[in-house]
Amino acid sequence: MSRLIIVSNRVAPISEGGPAAGGLAVGVYDALKETGGMWFGWSGEVVSSGQPQLQLVEQGPVTFATIGLARRDYDQYYRGFSNATLWPAFHYRADMIQYDGHDFEGYWRVNTWLAQQLVPLLRPDDVIWVHDYHLIPFAQALRAAGVENRIGFFLHIPFPAAQVLLAVPPHRALVEALCSFDLLGFQTQADVRAFCDYVVHEAGGEIEGGLHAATFIAGSPARVRAFGRSLRAAAYPIGVYPDEIAQLAKAGARGKSVRMMRQTLHERKLIMSVDRLDYSKGLVERFRAFERLLDHVPAYRNNVSYVQIAPPTRADMHAYQDIRLRLESELGRINGRFAELDWTPIRYIHRQYERSVLAALFRQSHVGYVTPLRDGMNLVAKEYVSAQDPDDPGVLVLSRFAGAADELTGALIVNPIDIDGMAQALAQALSMPLAERRARYRDMIAQLRSNNVSVWRDTFLRDLAHEHGRRPAAGPP
Ligand code: ADP
Ligand code: F6P
Repeated sequence: MSRLIIVSNRVAPISEGGPAAGGLAVGVYDALKETGGMWFGWSGEVVSSGQPQLQLVEQGPVTFATIGLARRDYDQYYRGFSNATLWPAFHYRADMIQYDGHDFEGYWRVNTWLAQQLVPLLRPDDVIWVHDYHLIPFAQALRAAGVENRIGFFLHIPFPAAQVLLAVPPHRALVEALCSFDLLGFQTQADVRAFCDYVVHEAGGEIEGGLHAATFIAGSPARVRAFGRSLRAAAYPIGVYPDEIAQLAKAGARGKSVRMMRQTLHERKLIMSVDRLDYSKGLVERFRAFERLLDHVPAYRNNVSYVQIAPPTRADMHAYQDIRLRLESELGRINGRFAELDWTPIRYIHRQYERSVLAALFRQSHVGYVTPLRDGMNLVAKEYVSAQDPDDPGVLVLSRFAGAADELTGALIVNPIDIDGMAQALAQALSMPLAERRARYRDMIAQLRSNNVSVWRDTFLRDLAHEHGRRPAAGPP
């Protein structure tokens, strides 16, 4: 069997042996611990002097190959082009896109350099699976270095509509680079369509069978021809291991932190949210919708608590400092309005937690409140459903703009901009009869079991195995 090489910017922290907050690290960690192989990427360190050195650490069946980034590379590749240009653009925030040509050069340079670090570690029959927007030029760089292995790419975040992508000045170079992969995986059908729409209307490429007739489903990916390349593309919605999460949730319920939390709640109902502190997650709108609920239904005052866990992320970027300040101001205002001596309406926590603690908190709660403005998939929504007690499940309130909404049709689907609509959904969730909660849960858990993280990995790798690596026209942007 071929060895699997995973390449991603963020790698699960090796010392703790578990994934970092973020869908990529969690999903890939779950996928790789079964197959074994190598995980190559950034160590998370910024090296202030000397050349970053590659480190190899064996942990069970996985070899972690990580390397630091020089300060300038971190600034241009990670903070700059990846997170100040691509992240807002791919999350449909054209108003927040910043662009600096030097950062783009740095992004390309770091991709080339990382690819060169990986080349000596490769064997001829390795299968290479590259993840996420930081590494769009990676296949082109590997091909330029003479690598002929099969190379697939999975995008964890949305792929934007062509009109939004056009706002990123080097959009053509990015899509051309994507066409150097053999197989492209996206979270949803809408993402694949957006990519193919760009290929046809902006790059003069073609989709076999026609843009509107082609299927973009896993197991039967569409054939794309563009930039002198032939590749395939489909939607491979990432999953979780629902039964493992349910076990963790049961075990975690006996832990000290969860017991303490229950004691402080008394008989109040619990609304639970967990997100990286990112402006794409719609946290301000979410706080306001909870406030609207308390405004409109006074019976919920002092009878329901909302816990928002939000570990800070990319904290050295202005946009993230800004969202943090806005949230703190909203939180202070809402808690000041409604708090009682024995009740704080919103508990807002910046900590990381063990997966078992998060799962147990999900199981204790009556509502999972997951309302991003835009999200590739949103694993938290899937984790929330997985953690529920089948006899007495909570209700998921889910944004229509999370990829997970395609599969979790048993959730109460909301528009995260519509504050009144979200307040109504919260009220409906808090008062939903047991029979309806069970029916919705059964529908969702069946879907999560049939498309768990092994299915995601195996389907992608099977489709990649059917695709014969072809040499692209490699070159600088
Ligand atoms: P994103 O990839 O944008 O961060 P996802 O919802 O897909 O969004 O993935 C987030 C992952 O990070 C989930 O698996 C979630 O459980 C985990 N996570 C988020 N916050 C925390 C936290 N405070 N402690 C531990 N894990 C967290
Ligand atoms: O899943 C989306 C994602 O952007 C990953 O690519 C990333 O690792 C994660 O969220 C967290 O962001 P960061 O790696 O910048 O901390």
